[in-house]
Amino acid sequence: MQALVLAGGEGTRLRPLTYTTPKPVMPLAGRPFLTFMLDWAHSHGVDEVILSCGFMSDDVKRVLGDIYDGMRLRYVIEDEPLGTAGPVRRAFDEGLLDERLFVLNGDVLTDIDLTGELAQHEHTGARVTLALHPVDDTSSYGVVPTDSDGRVEAFLEKTEGDAPTNRINAGAYVLEREVVEAIPPGRAVSFERETFPALVGDGLYGFPAAGYWIDIGTPERYLEATWDLLAGRVGSRLPPRDETGSLVYEGCLLSGAHVGPQAVLGRHCSVGSDARVERSVLHDRVVVGADAAVVESVLATRVRVGANARVLPGAVVGAGAVVGEDATIGEGARVDPGVEIEPGARVEAGDFVKAPEAAR
Ligand code: GTP
Repeated sequence: MQALVLAGGEGTRLRPLTYTTPKPVMPLAGRPFLTFMLDWAHSHGVDEVILSCGFMSDDVKRVLGDIYDGMRLRYVIEDEPLGTAGPVRRAFDEGLLDERLFVLNGDVLTDIDLTGELAQHEHTGARVTLALHPVDDTSSYGVVPTDSDGRVEAFLEKTEGDAPTNRINAGAYVLEREVVEAIPPGRAVSFERETFPALVGDGLYGFPAAGYWIDIGTPERYLEATWDLLAGRVGSRLPPRDETGSLVYEGCLLSGAHVGPQAVLGRHCSVGSDARVERSVLHDRVVVGADAAVVESVLATRVRVGANARVLPGAVVGAGAVVGEDATIGEGARVDPGVEIEPGARVEAGDFVKAPEAAR
C-alpha cells in the first residue's frame, strides 16, 4: 500500500524553530518527526511513501534519504505551495500513484488504526474515507458529523460556537484514484475547503478513529507530544527513559545539573552545575550555564543560556541564539535564531524578539 505524506507547509506556528529546520524533520524526542509517522504507516502495511515537499525540501531529503526501514521514499517537490489536495494531483500527474492510497498530514503523531480504516473503506465502497478523531476542544479544527453508516453529512471547517460533533478530521485519508483525477491540476487546491465538501453525499465516509492523536504544529502541542512520548502514552521506538522520565542522548555533560522530570537533551548538550532543565526540550549542542533554569521550554540547536539565566514556560529560543547571564526569557516568549539577549535583560512574556531578515 502507498501513502502520500503532505510535508510541504511552512510551519509558521512553530516559528522560530521552522526558520532553520522544516517541521517534517524537526527533532521530536530526539528523532526526526516524520520517522514516527513512517513507523506508524509501516506497521499498517505501507511499503512506499511519497513525500510531498516544498518549504526547505532539501533538508527533508537530506535527513530521510531514499529508504527508511525497508520502505521506499519518493519525493515530489513543489515550487509553489499547492495546498493539501494539489500535491496529490501533482504526484498523480507525475505517474506515481496507485489505484488507491493513504494521504496523511505530515504533522500528526498518532497510533490510529489505518488497517481498520482501510477495511471500512473497502466494506462501504467509499470513494474517500476520513479518519475522524474525538477531541475535547474542537475550536481549532474542522468537525465532521456522520450518519450511523459512516456517511459524512457535512464538512465544517473551524466553526464558531457549538459544534454538532467532537469528531475532527484527523488528516489520514484513504482515496480512490477517481477522486484524485477530479482534483484540478496545476493550482493550489484544498481537500478541506474544496474536494471534501463537494463529495458530501457522494461517497465520502468517516472512520471513527480511537487511540492517540495530536498534531505537533504549535509549540504547546510539540511539548505535549514530547511529554506523551516520554511517558509512553503513545508507542514509539525511542530508547528507554531514565528514572526522571527523561531522555539524554549521547555526548551530554551534566555534572551537578538537575535534569528532569520529562526533559529531552539532544546530542552533545552541556548543562552546568546546579542548573535546572525541567519538562523542556534541548535540541543538539545546547549549552546551559551554571545555576540557570529552563522550564517547559524549547531551545533549538546550539542555543547558549548563560549562568543564572531563566527561560520560563512556553518560551521557544531559535537556533544559535544566546541568552546572556542573568537574563530572563518570559513565559511564551520567542527569540529568533542567532539573536543575542544581553546579560541581565528581560524579554517580556509573549514577546517575539526578531532577528534582521538577513540573519535567519
Ligand atoms: P502553519 O503554517 O503553522 O499553519 O503550518 P503548515 O504550513 O504545516 O500548515 P498545516 O498545519 O495546515 O498543514 C497540514 C499539513 O499539510 C502539514 O503536514 C503541512 O506540511 C502540509 N501542507 C500544508 N500546506 C502544504 C502545501 O502547500 N504543500 C504541501 N506539499 N504540503 C502542505
